[in-house]
Parts: sequence; C-alpha cells; structure tokens
Amino acid sequence: MSKSPSPDHSDLRNSHGATSPFSCWLSSPEETTRLAQQIAARLQPGDCLLLEGPIGAGKTHFARSLIQSLMTSPEDVPSPTFTLVQTYDVAGTELWHADLYRLSSLEEIEELGLTEAFDDAICLIEWPDRLAELTPSHALHIALALESDLDADHEDRRHLTLTWSDAKWQNRLRGIIREASNEQS
Ligand SMILES: Nc1ncnc2c1ncn2[C@@H]1O[C@H](COP(=O)(O)OP(=O)(O)OP(=O)(O)O)[C@@H](O)[C@H]1O
Ligand SMILES: [Mg+2]
Repeated sequence: MSKSPSPDHSDLRNSHGATSPFSCWLSSPEETTRLAQQIAARLQPGDCLLLEGPIGAGKTHFARSLIQSLMTSPEDVPSPTFTLVQTYDVAGTELWHADLYRLSSLEEIEELGLTEAFDDAICLIEWPDRLAELTPSHALHIALALESDLDADHEDRRHLTLTWSDAKWQNRLRGIIREASNEQS
C-alpha cells in the first residue's frame, strides 16, 4: 500500500471554511487510487463528484478506482468516452460515471437522465464544464493537474484540489484531511 497523499500546507490552513479547498500531491497512480478509495467509503446516494482537469490528468483512473472499490466482485470499468454514461449497481445504490467531453448540447444532459441522477444516484462526472448552468451546487469538485509539463522527472505526479460549497463535504472529508495532515507532521 502506498503512503497517504501529501497535503499542501498552505491550503490546509484554509480547509476549515465550507468553501475552502484542500489540496495535495499524488505522486503515483497508486496514491490516486488510495484517495479515491477513501472518498468512495464516504459516499451516499445523491452525492456528485465533478472530475476536472486536462486530457490524461487521471480523471478516469480516479473514477475507475473509486467504482472498483465499491464493487463486491471485480468488473471492468471502461471509460465512458463514447457512450457518455456508464451505470453501475454498487453499495446498494446506482452509480453513474459520465464523460461529457463529446456532449453536443445541454438538452442531451436531460435526455440522458443525468439531472435526476444528480439527486438520487452517486455521480462521477468527467469534463463537468459541459454542464454549464446544470452544474449541481451540492457537488464536490475534484481538480487534477498534470505536473509533467513543469518537471519531466515527475511525470506520474498530479496535484489534486478539492473544493465544495455544500457544507456536508466538510464533515465527509474531515478524516481524509486529518490523515493527510498527520502524515506530514
Ligand atoms: N498520479 C497519477 N494519478 C492518476 N493517473 C496517473 C498518475 N500518474 C500516472 N497516471 C496515468 O495517467 C493516465 C491518466 O489517464 P486517464 O484516462 O485517467 O485520464 P483522463 O483525465 O480521464 O483523460 P481524458 O480527459 O482523456 O478522459 C493513466 O494511464 C494513469 O495510469
Ligand atoms: Mg477520462
């Protein structure tokens, strides 16, 4: 098992307000998987995670790790690049994994049934900027940034930032933030 993600101390100081971000470095795919598993264990129906970041940032890797950690028997988790949406029955609820990169119109969001899923299911959304005004205000924003452009020696390193407006995430994420903080002290 890899070590915990490394928090960015400047942002940790701001992690007490409901809208303040938490950020950390993820130095390998395994560290990203571990954080995804920790978040998975805290999810409930009606939770929505918006996975932001450029091509290759690790959005699908994060979503796949999260979904597989909730499965009772292992199954493939394909990227929904072409299907737009894949659904799963996990942990007694429906989970929707969407990749909206190829979305052609906002109406398609309604047609897919995504707006209802935001209320009832667990939703993991890649390329959530496509949601525009349909972006759910209760969502947790997970931004992954590639660092390889800055430093070729760290091509597996990602910078992750969690942001939220709904105060429920403050309680849900407390243990993760505390653990990441302790790892550094
Ligand atoms: N720290 C890391 N976290 C996540 N993925 C990583 C990390 N380091 C390397 N990778 C690799 O980066 C790749 C990320 O691909 P992935 O398909 O998850 O990107 P994506 O953000 O979904 O891109 P797209 O916008 O094309 O859907 C994977 O091959 C993964 O193994
Ligand atoms: Mg993807």
